[in-house]
Amino acid sequence: MNLEEQIYLRKSCRKYLDDEIDMDSIHKFLSSVKPLNDDINYYYKILTRDEVNLRTRWSAPYYLALFSEKKENYLTNIGFVFQQVSLYLQSVGIGSCWVGLASLKEKSSEFVIVISFGRSENMTRDISDFKRKQLSEISDFADERLTPARLAPSAVNSQPWYFKHSDDEFDVYQVKQNFVKRQFLKKWNPIDVGIALAHMYVANEKTFEFYRKSDFEEIKGYTYIGSIKI
Ligand SMILES: Cc1cc2nc3c(=O)[nH]c(=O)nc-3n(C[C@H](O)[C@H](O)[C@H](O)COP(=O)(O)O)c2cc1C
Repeated sequence: MNLEEQIYLRKSCRKYLDDEIDMDSIHKFLSSVKPLNDDINYYYKILTRDEVNLRTRWSAPYYLALFSEKKENYLTNIGFVFQQVSLYLQSVGIGSCWVGLASLKEKSSEFVIVISFGRSENMTRDISDFKRKQLSEISDFADERLTPARLAPSAVNSQPWYFKHSDDEFDVYQVKQNFVKRQFLKKWNPIDVGIALAHMYVANEKTFEFYRKSDFEEIKGYTYIGSIKI
């Protein structure tokens, strides 16, 4: 199955089988993945559950640990790269879930986040079972072309993305959270925006472009992240 189809049936997987997985195809997919910013170095490690400190009540046999150098937009870049991997895993029958509530036993200053993964028997759903904002809430007007972004996963389902039409492009913004929410979402929301952009890329692979404009419009309550052409 292709990656785009996964957007419409995926769900976060929190129940896994202990089956072994052949990691070669995952490494191979990762070697060809598209970054959002090609000047940011990142890398990953595949770990087992005993190498991770978890604050979730569930666990998976494997964890992709993600690392990046800290440059502007690095969290969004990590979301963009590894959501493509999550969709790839889903396409080959491997369930996954982004896990903010985890750290590594072996500490690293470049560590960003982990993604749990493993074989699973319950990893798809009907499109009507997605709990998401309406298209009109994530853009200046409802536009079906934004459905892939609308369906993207995000930390505590916060869906912090906003798209403003601008000629033949979209300016992309991140919601500014209130003081309380900001405390725990500040690291994750930029990742979420990268995840939504990965869905826009996968659905428009041939034409997708991302860049930062200097003449973007400031919108109260939102931070400008960049612009896309699809
Ligand atoms: C950055 C990020 C961090 C997340 N952290 C956790 C977590 O710590 N524990 C968990 O159970 N789910 C976590 N999730 C999964 C979200 O809760 C889930 O994506 C969201 O509720 C939407 O549901 P869905 O992925 O099934 O569409 C995380 C998701 C993202 C994108």
